[in-house]
Amino acid sequence: MICDLLLIGGDGDLALRKLYPALYHLECSQCLPACLKIVTVARSQISQADMATKIRQRFAEDQNEVPDEALWEKFIARIEYVATDATSEKDLRKLRENQFADKSRDLIVYLATPPSIFAPICQSLWAVGLVRSNTRIVVEKPLGESLKSFKDINASLTAIFKEEQVYRIDHYLGKETVQNLLAMRFANALFEPLWNSNYIDHVQITVAETVGIEGRWQFYDDAGALRDMVQNHLLQLLCLVAMEPPNRLDAQSVQDEKLKVLRALRPILRSEIKQKTVRGQYQSGAVSGKAVPAYLDEEGARPGSNTETFVALKAEISNWRWSGVPFYLRTGKRLLEKVSEIVIQFKSVPHRVFGDTEGNTTPNKLVIRLQPNEGIELLLMNKMPGLNDPMDLAPVSLNLSLSDAFTGQRVPDAYERLLLDVMRADSTLFMRADQLEAAWKWVDGIIDGWQKTNQRAVGYTAGSWGPSDSIALIARDDRTWDEG
Ligand code: BG6
Repeated sequence: MICDLLLIGGDGDLALRKLYPALYHLECSQCLPACLKIVTVARSQISQADMATKIRQRFAEDQNEVPDEALWEKFIARIEYVATDATSEKDLRKLRENQFADKSRDLIVYLATPPSIFAPICQSLWAVGLVRSNTRIVVEKPLGESLKSFKDINASLTAIFKEEQVYRIDHYLGKETVQNLLAMRFANALFEPLWNSNYIDHVQITVAETVGIEGRWQFYDDAGALRDMVQNHLLQLLCLVAMEPPNRLDAQSVQDEKLKVLRALRPILRSEIKQKTVRGQYQSGAVSGKAVPAYLDEEGARPGSNTETFVALKAEISNWRWSGVPFYLRTGKRLLEKVSEIVIQFKSVPHRVFGDTEGNTTPNKLVIRLQPNEGIELLLMNKMPGLNDPMDLAPVSLNLSLSDAFTGQRVPDAYERLLLDVMRADSTLFMRADQLEAAWKWVDGIIDGWQKTNQRAVGYTAGSWGPSDSIALIARDDRTWDEG
């Protein structure tokens, strides 16, 4: 791996909060190529030393650790800050001449900028000769707000780069526990025979957050929970649960299988929109014992916004494996707990030999906890100790905590994995354009349904599990959300 990294938007929130800490941790685990040079650019006319201070200060604020001084010095010495307007050919030409003259070295260009300037940046990179066969470009959400705007943004990239040179990040795919889903499904013989509509009743995917809008009200208000979370993170999780086993764990095979799932998502018709979707918006309440304001009272809020901060959906996949198995998805801000989990709810046993009391008929359940307290829990039926006849049963969990199983091992952040994969030119954990198109097409159908049926976001108390309509959505099918 002989490569250089050009980080555009190097003084922005994404770079300071996620990218530099990830690069520092890669330095610590000796994963950075020895000769990697990081050129970070932004418009601010600040000195190299000021930039280094900024990176260090933000690290201290966000990370729960004191960096190792020797390793920090080594890491910071790789970084060169150059005040640059990345849309300007003149500025980029200087960079090419001074920093990136050696064409034999791979070049990774990370666009940590809003997509509105992807087009002029890519044009300028191309015009000055920084787009070579060994250049890779990294981008991340928001990649559009609809299928059409995604296609426009994507066209600005693919007009200049080949598809295999574009790395579209969904940071959920870099999370250790999300990758572990692949290991769990395809490295264990136990689950695959049961992983279909013969044995699975339904699947639940919950990504609940306690945080609110975190000072980005305007950005969030243009998106809402459906675009911000479902279109990408939740649908990617759904793909990993629902996809067929790939032939090999390479980018093409994995992406092909995920695409099939997205294309098989049954569109939610306008006539079904009220039955199968719920939009919510948080009101004031208390989260973790602290009073918090309503969405519409947050700093920068515009009165009367109907943007959803919570969404619950019933998704269905039209294929042989999943026919008749609903996937219930929900995500929201200012909920009771921060938790991301996938629940695979199995069907009841086909014949009851232990009598019909409620305790005796609980079906098996597999809970995959992605965060926090990563682990896997399998609910099994057991005999309760005692002399009762007929015997009493009770569900008991087989609990595997990943942190206990691998004590002492640091769990890398998603960006560490993803940055390393770009350096290795491995795009398995990135999103291909056709996947994003399929995901946007499905999501556009829901947004259109909301608009045409004038579906409003209903209020829910901050610190709750969302609006009662979300309970009703799943209760209509005689099911309940899993809440631990
Ligand atoms: C981002 C969303 O993509 O993911 C945020 O824009 C959200 O709104 C975040 O808070 C959640 O990520 P994580 O890693 O904290 O679960």
